[in-house]
Amino acid sequence: MRFSRTAFFEAHEDRPTNPSCATPLATLIERRLSRRGFLKGAGDASLGVVALGGLGLLGAGLVHAHAADRFAFDEISHGLDETIHIAAGHRADVLIRWGDPLLADAPEFDPQHQTAEAQERQFGYNNDYIGFVALDGRDDRGLLMVNHEYVSRELMFPGLPMPQDEFDHSDLSAEIVEIEKAAHGLSVVEVRRDGGLWHYVRDSPYNRRLTPRSTSMALAGPVAGHARVQTQADPDGRTVLGTLNNCAGGVTPWGTVLTCEENFNFYFMGDAEQHPEKDKLARYGAPTEANAWGLYDPRFHINKEPNEPNRFGWVVEVDPHDPTSTPIKRTALGRVKHEGAANVVADDGRLVVYMGDDQRFDYVYKFVTRDRVDVVNAKANRDLLDHGTLYVARFEEDGSVHWLALVHGQGPLTEENGFASQADVLIDTRLAADALGATPMDRPEDIEANPATGKVYVMLSNNHQRSADRLNPANPRAENVFGQIVEIATDGDHGAVLSRWDMLVLCGDPANEAVGAKWNPATTANGWFASPDNCVVDARGRLWVTTDQGGKWAMSGTVDGLWALETDGERRGTGKMFFRVPMGAEMSGPSFTPDDTALFLSVQHPGEDESADFPGRTTPASFEDPATRWPDFDDAMPPRPSILVVTRHGGGTIG
Ligand code: FEO
Ligand code: CA
Ligand code: CA
Repeated sequence: MRFSRTAFFEAHEDRPTNPSCATPLATLIERRLSRRGFLKGAGDASLGVVALGGLGLLGAGLVHAHAADRFAFDEISHGLDETIHIAAGHRADVLIRWGDPLLADAPEFDPQHQTAEAQERQFGYNNDYIGFVALDGRDDRGLLMVNHEYVSRELMFPGLPMPQDEFDHSDLSAEIVEIEKAAHGLSVVEVRRDGGLWHYVRDSPYNRRLTPRSTSMALAGPVAGHARVQTQADPDGRTVLGTLNNCAGGVTPWGTVLTCEENFNFYFMGDAEQHPEKDKLARYGAPTEANAWGLYDPRFHINKEPNEPNRFGWVVEVDPHDPTSTPIKRTALGRVKHEGAANVVADDGRLVVYMGDDQRFDYVYKFVTRDRVDVVNAKANRDLLDHGTLYVARFEEDGSVHWLALVHGQGPLTEENGFASQADVLIDTRLAADALGATPMDRPEDIEANPATGKVYVMLSNNHQRSADRLNPANPRAENVFGQIVEIATDGDHGAVLSRWDMLVLCGDPANEAVGAKWNPATTANGWFASPDNCVVDARGRLWVTTDQGGKWAMSGTVDGLWALETDGERRGTGKMFFRVPMGAEMSGPSFTPDDTALFLSVQHPGEDESADFPGRTTPASFEDPATRWPDFDDAMPPRPSILVVTRHGGGTIG
């Protein structure tokens, strides 16, 4: 059978790099038994049970009573087919697709004859996070900043040879490397609602592509200029060409967008044994043969440009209002495989950015600015993210969260332990967090705060590699295929070093006892989901969750989608299915307009995940033989990752 490069990516994501994550089972049982007292009446005393449905401390203390369903839609059903499905009363329209012309001089999309020059003027591949920034304070006009996380080579290019294994790069050429670079990065696109319908504004002066091929970005904060980020092309260590594997992000109160560099290790190949920082690279899973751009571009070969990997893995701030602005990599926020950077203003006026490091057994972080947000003068916040404290979370059995500061010179973060400066602490964030004893989590993805309640929701996607002797209360299931959502309560003091946590849901099918799922009993056979990934809190304070099961969709029997999830009151922990994607896709990017009348959704990699297992198929999908041709259903077009805009028939609030 054909070697599938996308399946290979997933196998790499599956490879945890954190060696230090065991809690002996005896200790765990002892702690768990003492936690039962804390749960105060959570009925089931078995080891697998955690606080749910308002029985836990947080659920009991902070809720407003919502006995009624807060979501006014009839849910759709689980399923698997070639197209999209949405709750009745709503419509989902394609807003922009991979290849659609974005800049004034962009040619029409021609997938049979794609070039890097064309791709760099067209909408990129595998759209992920969507940040909506209003223009002129309006709800019907704005800028979308969209991440293009990665490419699905076998679905993008016609006539590729079939690689036999991960070391066979016969499907790659210098030209393909350039097109792939041009398909990565970010798009800024103006969108408008005219006559009730949304469209993107082709040729808008705001429209912009930012790519790892041609967009210069600045390094700022403690790492800027450090010897470990200096390269032949940038001897000052202050200017990086582009951004890579941008996953999720966040919009700041001053109208810039944060975009997060996730699996940057996929882009760096070479011989680790010949690299001076071999062990540090290994903690980030580099090098790999995944993309192999280093065959044609030496900066992606670790033996030719050893410091280049240290220049990725950051949170990047982009000003979408100024198409000439230089994006800035904010190194004070640490270097990990950043999923997202949702942020919230704490009661004392400082900005707090919550961040997950998306890998099995990695950690949850937050960054607290030193200074307060200037709510009057947006420009005064220009350097706000360069000064502050980065923390990593330790989840305790007694329901507390201890935020441990990653500060050079404090605790084990000293020169004797390999951290000669704050720059070392930040470049090697994972190693510093290991040294502090952070809690290894089940793949931390998106994190969102509800500004009204002070509660924070942490999506933990899955971790089938967690063994029974490595459990901890926030990650309580062995071989956890389906993930969970942890809630953190802050009472508005997001900057505090102590918070409390509780379990919101343990995902998967509650009808299958072996799964160990926990939902509110009001959840229907379609209301449960698996592998929470991205999330958003709408203007009414309601939580929405998207899923990314990857190849594990076969274990749930249904595709990814968007669910509404009740967080408070008697219905706390009740899911409700709103939207589902075509097979092989994942759902990401949920982003509402400020008035909740439009919802932007990202359909990423349609037709890709474990496509050989789709009904009626035996082979992985390819350009010539795709599993779906969504959204065009035109025999001349491959499947195209696309942004959808969801509205209500006749207008009104979504859901
Ligand atoms: Fe890019 Fe964590 O998914
Ligand atoms: Ca994601
Ligand atoms: Ca994902």
